Amino acid sequence: MIIVGCSNSKKLAKKIGEKLNFSYQDLALEDFPDGEMHLNFKGNLKNQTVVLVQSFYPNPNHALIEIMFAASNARDLGAKKVILIAPYLAYLREDERVSAGECVSSKVIGDILSRNFDAIVTIEPHLHRHNLNEIFSIPIYKIDISDLLKNYIKKNFKDVQIVGINDGSGELVKKLSFDSIILNKKRKNYFNVSIKGNHNLSKEREVLIVDDIISSGATMIEAIKFLKNKKISCFTVHPVFIGGALRELEKYTKKITSSNTIYHETNNLDVSNLIAKKLLEI
Ligand code: R5P
Repeated sequence: MIIVGCSNSKKLAKKIGEKLNFSYQDLALEDFPDGEMHLNFKGNLKNQTVVLVQSFYPNPNHALIEIMFAASNARDLGAKKVILIAPYLAYLREDERVSAGECVSSKVIGDILSRNFDAIVTIEPHLHRHNLNEIFSIPIYKIDISDLLKNYIKKNFKDVQIVGINDGSGELVKKLSFDSIILNKKRKNYFNVSIKGNHNLSKEREVLIVDDIISSGATMIEAIKFLKNKKISCFTVHPVFIGGALRELEKYTKKITSSNTIYHETNNLDVSNLIAKKLLEI
């Protein structure tokens, strides 16, 4: 098995390779001046299982084209199997045609990736109405981060109350089995959400708000404002943090952590062991 680090996930891929003692290589990639992509593998891929590690942030569209070219090239070079590890898998949020003519992105990403890979491994995918097996026609394995997060919370908090957000982290928060509540979010547009919910959280105890993705930061900021507690920390599985989102969120709390499904200065939870373990199982 050869582990290949694609542009967004080289460090993580290298760690996975080291943990498993598998051979590792960076995907050699360069963009031509006109924007076309040029990539190549080093070494012999003949009859090998090639594992591409690529998170879909930043530059999700570039990340997608890159892995499609890489997967196709790996097969052309004789790879026996091509597996995708996508710690953060994008394009899952649009799972229904809400307005006429709209593209259902999760269906498209499911079709494209199913045609190019033999199997996919991902972490805490953002799913609303469908499960992964309805979207993908190849084996797709979902890594559950709850035990890792539970240990992190035990190590770093004394007496914490956990707050989840309905469609983003409700399920994850329930699995953590701490004292918890789930808030309800309604999104008005990309940058505006409203938060509601009943709670009797103690103002004296610490609060950790958990969400699967922080993108604009609006959900976290509104949740912090809604709770009005003094000691609030935030955790996200996928730290997207577009533009100035982190600096804006820091105006409300400085205690912000994330897992390294996407590289970010807030990374504190390393998912490489979970991925390595899953690779040995499939
Ligand atoms: C949405 O359904 C997700 O679970 C997150 O709550 C959302 O992506 C967060 O986005 P933002 O930071 O832009 O509010």
